[in-house]
Amino acid sequence: MEYSYSVVPIPTSPLLQAHVDKYASLRLLALRTNPECFFSTQDEEGRFSREQWRGRIDTDDRVTLIAVASRLLADSSPESSSSSSFANTSVSLDSLDGEAAEWVGLITVLTPEFLKERRDNIPPKFQKYAMCFGEPANVLVSMWVHPEHRRKGLGGRLISEAIDWVKKRTVTTKNFDVSNGRLGGAVVLEVVKGNTGAGMLYRAMGFETIDSEDASIWMGKRLDNLPYL
Ligand SMILES: CC(C)(COP(=O)(O)OP(=O)(O)OC[C@H]1O[C@@H](n2cnc3c(N)ncnc32)[C@H](O)[C@@H]1OP(=O)(O)O)[C@@H](O)C(=O)NCCC(=O)NCCS
Repeated sequence: MEYSYSVVPIPTSPLLQAHVDKYASLRLLALRTNPECFFSTQDEEGRFSREQWRGRIDTDDRVTLIAVASRLLADSSPESSSSSSFANTSVSLDSLDGEAAEWVGLITVLTPEFLKERRDNIPPKFQKYAMCFGEPANVLVSMWVHPEHRRKGLGGRLISEAIDWVKKRTVTTKNFDVSNGRLGGAVVLEVVKGNTGAGMLYRAMGFETIDSEDASIWMGKRLDNLPYL
């Protein structure tokens, strides 16, 4: 089966209940399929109410990007390529809904504002890395790709689209410290020790180890300086 892949944020205005339900199913599938890669569990999040799931995405200080796989019609020509392709990024999640499309991966960005405003309701470790390389950090969490769609570049695509989202938001909100007429920023993430596949992907994407804890490694990447608009 050949697929075209797209990575798009879940839109919040308006936020569709169907998207909330699909997001909850995908996240629980990730926790069920790869419990060894996450600090949360299917038991814990399986008890979330619909409002809790909705609250996770109905906000502008965090975003979840979804990887959508759209089945391509079979090409019978002998020259047809066996590799999958990536679609244009400017599509909407709605336009991708349909029987031939499936949600197969996700990543969530917690912005510096999210970390600041919800200080009392999130694990203290997130606060510890709220600054990285002297820059306000965005924490990337919940990264997962369905096993049938791995090693096709989708994990890398989720990371780079998340970083693009952060850069665009940085310019739009101008919430970062401005020095020398430029904006900065960083992204950080936590990897369970022993998850070498994910670690290799992050290193290939330019992340470096910033700290090591008992069960996990924290990695970070300074964003390229952005012109102050
Ligand atoms: C980690 C994960 C998201 C990677 O997704 P993916 O779509 O397979 O990643 P990509 O195809 O973009 O991989 C790009 C490169 O990363 C490295 N890589 C990715 N997975 C790897 C693995 N299991 N072993 C070794 N290298 C790996 C390779 O260099 C790969 O390039 P290659 O396929 O040309 O060799 C996916 O394996 C996954 O969901 N794992 C379970 C959940 C998880 O670990 N989440 C991360 C929590 S921090």
